[in-house]
Amino acid sequence: MSASKSHIDVRTALKQGLAQLREAHVPSFTLAAELLLLHVLNRDRTWLYAHPEEQVSTADAERFIALVARRAHGEPTQHLTGKQEFWGLEFEVTPDVLIPRPETEHVIEVALDRLALRERRAGRKQTLTGEGLQIADIGTGSGCIAIALAKEMPGAAIYATDISSPALAVAHRNANRHSVFDRIHFLESNLLDGFTARGAANAGPSVVGAQHAAPLLGKDAPHESPVTSQQSPLLDLIASNPPYIGRREAATLMREVRDHEPEIALYGGEEGYELYADLITQAAAHLKPGGILVLELGHNSLPAVQPLLDAPTWSSVGVTNDLAGIPRVLAAERL
Ligand SMILES: C[S@@+](CC[C@H](N)C(=O)[O-])C[C@H]1O[C@@H](n2cnc3c(N)ncnc32)[C@H](O)[C@@H]1O
Repeated sequence: MSASKSHIDVRTALKQGLAQLREAHVPSFTLAAELLLLHVLNRDRTWLYAHPEEQVSTADAERFIALVARRAHGEPTQHLTGKQEFWGLEFEVTPDVLIPRPETEHVIEVALDRLALRERRAGRKQTLTGEGLQIADIGTGSGCIAIALAKEMPGAAIYATDISSPALAVAHRNANRHSVFDRIHFLESNLLDGFTARGAANAGPSVVGAQHAAPLLGKDAPHESPVTSQQSPLLDLIASNPPYIGRREAATLMREVRDHEPEIALYGGEEGYELYADLITQAAAHLKPGGILVLELGHNSLPAVQPLLDAPTWSSVGVTNDLAGIPRVLAAERL
């Protein structure tokens, strides 16, 4: 496809774009070409197929050609369009955050199921509004887990941590976009270090906590300061999709992932599962009795991670497979 052929209609542009992506061995090349053309034309898919004869302006054709070329060189479609849908919501994505994946929606499903079951067991009402619940999403990235949970449970208070300040800036914008900014407290923190364990506040310098957590933006902003010992809640739910790919697997990753998504979001260590031990230990210290932990797993993490959820600290350990049959979500209740 070349700029000299820019007087073309929608059907021709699409055909040329997808042919170029197919030749470059881009996975799902038809979908990629459609999404890029829709993005350039600022239209939806119904319009695209209802107006195949519509002329594409020279400027739009040139933009499309440029995006197709970048996609053919390995840039993810979502980095070119700046968005990805998750849980029926559109999220801004940039190279600073992991592109939300469909399998992470199982984390939301399991979290909501477990919380609803807990409410029913306590004899409370059937509809889960999240009233009074304290929830944390560790390693929030784009904010997709925290924001989906905030939308599902309008009564819940939510904390979202990440070690990456550029990722938190994206999460912030996504919370604004979905009007849940006032219910999510963002925290730059290594795992749960930014929370001070209740009752440990006067334990001296060894206390994990607020001193390691940096505010995201201005220190006067109410949702951006570290959680102090006074504020530190015991949590009802901790959800996390931590980095879980092993560096030893890096060579097997698709170039779109390996060369374009942030290393801090991908790799958990040489093996991949290294972060889970600290995450589970910290979660045990910050969950209420009966609190729920929901973790996304890497494709081969289960044997290394499940034994960490042992009695007497944890009960009701459950594994949920994703649509490909891979054990994807591990959940447990704090005794
Ligand atoms: C696999 S991504 C998940 C992002 C998002 N929650 C999702 O599901 O799409 C992992 C996230 O954890 C963050 N992260 C990595 N190491 C961390 C750590 N030690 N403490 C807190 N966050 C961390 C990364 O910056 C990244 O945003």
